[in-house]
Amino acid sequence: MPSQKPGFRSAKNYGPQTRDGFIHRSWMKSEGLPSSVFDGRPVIGICNTWSELTPCNAHLRDISEFVKRGVWEAGGLPLEFPAMSLGETQMRPTAMLFRNLLAMEVEESIRGNPIDAVVLLGGCDKTTPGQLMGAASVDLPTMVVSSGPMLNGKFRGQDIGSGTDVWKFSESVRAGEMELKDFMSAESGMSRSAGTCMTMGSASTFASIVEAMGLSLSYNATIPAVDSRRRALAHETGRTIVDLARRDVRLSKILTREAFENAIRVIAAIGGSTNAVLHLLAVAGRLGVKLDLIDFDRLSSEIPLIVDLQPSGHFLMEDFHYAGGLPAAMKELAPWLALDGLTVSGRTHREVIAEAECFNRDVIRTVANPVRATAGIWVLKGNLCPDGAIMKPSAAADSLYRHRGTAVVFESIEDFKARVDDPELDVDENSILVLKGCGPKGYPGMPEVGNMPLPRKLLARGVKDMVRISDARMSGTAFGSVILHVSPEAEAGGPLAIVRNGDEIAFDGPARKLDLLISDAEMAKRLAEWNRTRAAPKYGRGYYKLYYDHVLQADRGCDLDFLVGGSGDVVDRESH
Ligand code: FES
Repeated sequence: MPSQKPGFRSAKNYGPQTRDGFIHRSWMKSEGLPSSVFDGRPVIGICNTWSELTPCNAHLRDISEFVKRGVWEAGGLPLEFPAMSLGETQMRPTAMLFRNLLAMEVEESIRGNPIDAVVLLGGCDKTTPGQLMGAASVDLPTMVVSSGPMLNGKFRGQDIGSGTDVWKFSESVRAGEMELKDFMSAESGMSRSAGTCMTMGSASTFASIVEAMGLSLSYNATIPAVDSRRRALAHETGRTIVDLARRDVRLSKILTREAFENAIRVIAAIGGSTNAVLHLLAVAGRLGVKLDLIDFDRLSSEIPLIVDLQPSGHFLMEDFHYAGGLPAAMKELAPWLALDGLTVSGRTHREVIAEAECFNRDVIRTVANPVRATAGIWVLKGNLCPDGAIMKPSAAADSLYRHRGTAVVFESIEDFKARVDDPELDVDENSILVLKGCGPKGYPGMPEVGNMPLPRKLLARGVKDMVRISDARMSGTAFGSVILHVSPEAEAGGPLAIVRNGDEIAFDGPARKLDLLISDAEMAKRLAEWNRTRAAPKYGRGYYKLYYDHVLQADRGCDLDFLVGGSGDVVDRESH
């Protein structure tokens, strides 16, 4: 029987000529593996979030076969395993509630199994961040292959974008500008191929982050899901991960502080999703990289928006790929990026972008001719959000960058839905819509409801944007003057909990201020009353209780407090 050379982690299982080695090898042979594969080669785990309930990831079994080809070709042993899949459009109350559960499953699956390196297959919004958080806490050599974006949506001869045009069309129906039957006929043309949302939503943002940080091969973010080049990329990833395993290039060697800084700047330049803030904070926490909410503002405030994609702009991910993809955008952004860090390809970022070319300056602009000079993420502070709140200025109306108005308060999203279209609702275009109870603990899971639809009576008058404030998130495909992630959230006793109808609120984006204009004494009185009368938490068992009791606030990435950090890859007890 061939004996496994020591060195790889998997050698503990497959090397020894003992009873335990017999057990580990023999049961694997039931899959048809010959003795010859237990010869000292690295075992590559392929962590697959394939599911028919996650349409954006439903083609990942096909992609996995191409990763395996590459692994075999390079002399590794590929072993695919499933991980909980999180379908953004399917799961209730929100996929975000389960991101940390996926992370726990991925972490323990990697650590508990005889794996020397891992390829993460994910795409839909929460799958890649959850996988990456789990992998970071083990810190093996790791690469990502993303689902890839869908082909551009089509409706009546026009391109339409996932999510972004759903929000636009549904507002048009409510304003009486579009017929319901036309809205419904757009449904089939919007999602017409495998892949993730093809706007610069959360999935495309995180796929771009992965590429910008050097965790994937080039063009991973933009090659359409159904383009044959994605299969070729998967194949090359299989070859590359074997090399990384042999050279023991761990995830933490790639995900340095500079890599996070690059990611934050790239998010600004591409008009990326606000959800990336939560996920990057959580991944950094797993690796012990010091990253604070304010870094997102500080590092991105001078970065112009240069990629013209929905929801901040016009084009879609397919256009971005044909225009040159992320390397071409990063080349334009080079003066702001740290380019000497390593990527999984073994090359530096500088070497990668040296080959990049732009083929369409309408889609990837120059820094001298940006889509908008103001991009990035604003991090607001003030007595309404002592631990911070965020806003994406590129998705908001410039005219509302500074605004003072009276609050129209909704205690929950159900309260909002019941009353927003009431003709008697006391609201006008200068009002500020305030939504409570949608934070990490409050919903629970922090749903994407922060981009509250405008009251129908204002839509009918042609109002297109209003200031909206909540402790919720917003879909990466959405837009508007929306202030999100207010921390602490209402359910955790943040000042948002005590805002009342008619209170005045002052928002000053350029000064990064958000204040409730009441006295300190009135604030203290209301908070004391809220604490006295608050309802007991609703959840007494299961994962909901674990999550409610341990979730961190948005300014810390919504990880569970006991999952911050890592435990490495060592398991020193045998299973029999
Ligand atoms: Fe899956 Fe948008 S719903 S990526």
